[in-house]
Amino acid sequence: MSRTDSAAICDRIDRDLAAGRARLDAGLVASYLAHLDGSVARAEMLSIDRFSMLHPDTLALLRACAIEARRGVLEIGSYIGGSTCAIAAGLRDSTAVPFLTIEVGGSYPDQPWLPTNDIIADWSANVASLGLSRYTALFQGWANDPAAVTALRDRLGPGGQVDLVFMDANGAFWPNIGPFADLFTDDCLFVMDDYHSVEGTQEKALNIHFAVNHLRDRGGLVEFAPVRWSTWFGRLGPAFPALREEARGRGFSDLPLPGRVFMT
Ligand SMILES: C[S@@+](CC[C@H](N)C(=O)[O-])C[C@H]1O[C@@H](n2cnc3c(N)ncnc32)[C@H](O)[C@@H]1O
Repeated sequence: MSRTDSAAICDRIDRDLAAGRARLDAGLVASYLAHLDGSVARAEMLSIDRFSMLHPDTLALLRACAIEARRGVLEIGSYIGGSTCAIAAGLRDSTAVPFLTIEVGGSYPDQPWLPTNDIIADWSANVASLGLSRYTALFQGWANDPAAVTALRDRLGPGGQVDLVFMDANGAFWPNIGPFADLFTDDCLFVMDDYHSVEGTQEKALNIHFAVNHLRDRGGLVEFAPVRWSTWFGRLGPAFPALREEARGRGFSDLPLPGRVFMT
């Protein structure tokens, strides 16, 4: 198969997702990743790669998830906008559902590859540079700030729900996810970075890995694939509501871990 024929498969999946003729699952994700070379998704994600900590394949798959989304999108942890732009590009190319990004902001001048003196200012500039500002809104603060839930409810509107959630933040899984979990659709696409540890993220990855596996092994999540470098893709499974209530019973504290726990 030529490179052009191969990329056409990926481009067709984008069109099928946009038209509601396809739905992401493990098989479709495998096919998408195998045919990215030369595709529209790969080309656009390479332009975002310069300001993202995520692998371009992960950005491409995030974009595909956003193409499928029909209700609303929640992102926790955007840094200077790489993942935000991947999601916003998918919404631009499909259904422009409400999309809220939650980012605490600050500076990170010592970051070795993507230093910034102002996370929020660089986020705004990067999103605007690709003409994507109209597809997203930013709540500056911590995900477990009660005002963040209000911001999401306001963004979604009455009866609104989220059918894609992406988190790339600290290791506090339930404290970050829990406050929003009532707003997730039953089959919400679920994307978690830090599923594996990469360069000094061992503690938060330990927590995310444990939490995702805990939910997956009990039917609360359905796995598509972990994707380079450390991002887990799947969607909510039938047991998620029961497991959500179980976690709520613990006051949204994190799942118990053997030994040391997580984070920041
Ligand atoms: C690894 S970076 C995100 C990288 C980004 N997704 C990308 O594509 O490059 C993590 C970001 O999450 C933010 N963050 C960490 N924990 C958070 C929390 N609980 N609530 C809000 N933002 C958080 C940090 O300020 C940082 O900008």
